[in-house]
Amino acid sequence: MGNKTIVFGAGLSAVLLLSAVVLAQGIGQHGHGQAQMHQNHQHDMARMPGLQGRDTTAEEVGDMAAMFRNHPSLARQVTLLPNGIRTETSTPDPALRDALLRHVIGMIDRVDTGRDPKVRIQSPTLDIIFARRAQIETQIDLTDTGIVVVQTSTDPEVVAALQTHAAEVSDMAARGMHAVHEAMARRMQQ
Ligand code: HEM
Repeated sequence: MGNKTIVFGAGLSAVLLLSAVVLAQGIGQHGHGQAQMHQNHQHDMARMPGLQGRDTTAEEVGDMAAMFRNHPSLARQVTLLPNGIRTETSTPDPALRDALLRHVIGMIDRVDTGRDPKVRIQSPTLDIIFARRAQIETQIDLTDTGIVVVQTSTDPEVVAALQTHAAEVSDMAARGMHAVHEAMARRMQQ
């Protein structure tokens, strides 16, 4: 399967492109995985109330819960660029890949359109990313097992925030909720 590319911040309609990619990739067509994820949503929601946001859908919360629950199945490589980041996140689990793709495409669309989900546990690094979204160029490539994200900026503070956020995502992928709890505890001590 050839890679699909989406570019944000280049005057293109993110939403239209998003629909095209979702259709092209058949995200959510894994019947079994979907049913399983749906079942697990309720379980996870009970254990991860911090994933609720002031502006989140049940599907968004469920996808984040699925990523936290299945984080050992996520592999991730981050390259720091002089002007941003290149990340590759993947999983052999098709249902988890669906959740990952929905999350990344959906969240980057939120950044592009300034709709901060205000999830309870979300990192404050996202504040500058949402505030200075006009300074961010994003390119997404879908692979058979995951997603490649390249984000660049000419604003050095935005570059620093993108790099910090990429490290935070890597920590969540590696250690799940422990990473979040430790980061929140560190912030409370500051
Ligand atoms: C296991 C947990 C999580 C995983 C694996 C994950 C994965 C990712 C990935 C792969 C990206 C693309 C950027 C990159 O590769 O660095 C991303 C972006 C994003 N994620 Fe998550 N995420 C997780 C949890 C969360 C949580 C709890 C939030 C809270 C709102 C969140 C909000 C966002 C936002 C807003 C973006 C877009 C950032 C930007 O455009 O620079 N993520 N996430």
